[in-house]
Amino acid sequence: MPHSTPRFGVIGAGSIGRIHLEALRTAGLPVVAIADPVPAAREKAREFFPDAVLYEDWRGLLADAKVDAVNICTISSMHFEILREAVAASKHVLCEKTLTADGGQAREALKLKLKPGQIVQSAYMKRFFPASVQAKAWLAEIGRPLCATVRSFQGGWCDEKMFNDPGWKPGAKGVSNIRIFASGGMLHMAGSHMLDMTAWLLGEPATIACETWAPDGYDAELHAHALFKMRSGVIVHFEAALTNLNRLGAYQNGWDEFIEITGTKGRIELCFPLWNKPLDNAPRVRLYREAQKSWQESSAPLVNPFQLEMEAFARVCRGEPSEFPSLRDGLVVDLWIDACLQSAASGGRMAFPSY
Ligand SMILES: NC(=O)c1ccc[n+]([C@@H]2O[C@H](COP(=O)([O-])OP(=O)(O)OC[C@H]3O[C@@H](n4cnc5c(N)ncnc54)[C@H](O)[C@@H]3O)[C@@H](O)[C@H]2O)c1
Repeated sequence: MPHSTPRFGVIGAGSIGRIHLEALRTAGLPVVAIADPVPAAREKAREFFPDAVLYEDWRGLLADAKVDAVNICTISSMHFEILREAVAASKHVLCEKTLTADGGQAREALKLKLKPGQIVQSAYMKRFFPASVQAKAWLAEIGRPLCATVRSFQGGWCDEKMFNDPGWKPGAKGVSNIRIFASGGMLHMAGSHMLDMTAWLLGEPATIACETWAPDGYDAELHAHALFKMRSGVIVHFEAALTNLNRLGAYQNGWDEFIEITGTKGRIELCFPLWNKPLDNAPRVRLYREAQKSWQESSAPLVNPFQLEMEAFARVCRGEPSEFPSLRDGLVVDLWIDACLQSAASGGRMAFPSY
């Protein structure tokens, strides 16, 4: 594959597709094609890149020789098919999370034969926040990590109707709209980002014990609460939920998401802002050192992680060394979610599957 700045094609111009288009525009990266079957979505997308060719069918976009890299921004249940065809068409791929709909598809994705230099990046953009990079750099300061608490509570727009929402109940297609959109509940939604963050900072889990909860009639979880023993021995308390308590969290806007890692010599605390408003609040990261009995706070800048994600993807496609969430990282999250759900269904502790 040639090492040059890729020309992008964006598949799916809904809410995250438009966030990608905005980020690509701000990063000064070229978008030459956009695909979405909905005319209004295509027209709205055109506002970002007026010269882009618009396709009704994503297969037409993949056949376009001017497209070097594809951003998959459709609903999660479509990711795998598009990813497979995009890889076969020799495109670089940035695939929205979750990488696929389940661990079975993710295993198939890992078997895809990439060409030399061909990149598949998973869209876990929270890694690109400078505060996340700082947290990772500080890991060396806290001695041996012993335990961590990870929370991903999503709120800020919900009221009590969320406990009796038809969108979470199986409909005419036999599954709920939520399952069609996200492939599952809160583990797939915001929870997947924090599973990736946990893996990035602490490695893979060895065992998983999880409980889930949802109102009667729902086919996806509103709450997931789990205990992970990581391969390193670190014990992680994890919880993901949708909440109607709309002023929770560090910024009191209902977005209550953080990771806190305690080691033999100190602690790191990292909390994240509302996912689509990163320019309103910067993530907060701070380090406690027992040797000095004091806290150090890093002044994190206000940055758009989606823009940093696009810039990193372009760098990797150009062949420049740059860390990025890989296909394998996407697989790990998908397998992890499956294992949580299997643990909850069986009431037992699961070993993290080999792959
Ligand atoms: N990284 C993040 O923080 C983040 C945040 C939100 C959503 N997401 C992920 O982004 C994905 C999309 O979510 P969304 O909120 O944008 O959904 P959405 O429903 O707003 O948008 C999906 C778009 O895909 C289009 N589409 C449907 N069929 C298509 C086809 N055959 N070809 C091309 N386009 C097609 C739809 O018309 C729609 O415009 C999901 O996988 C979700 O998990 C990620």
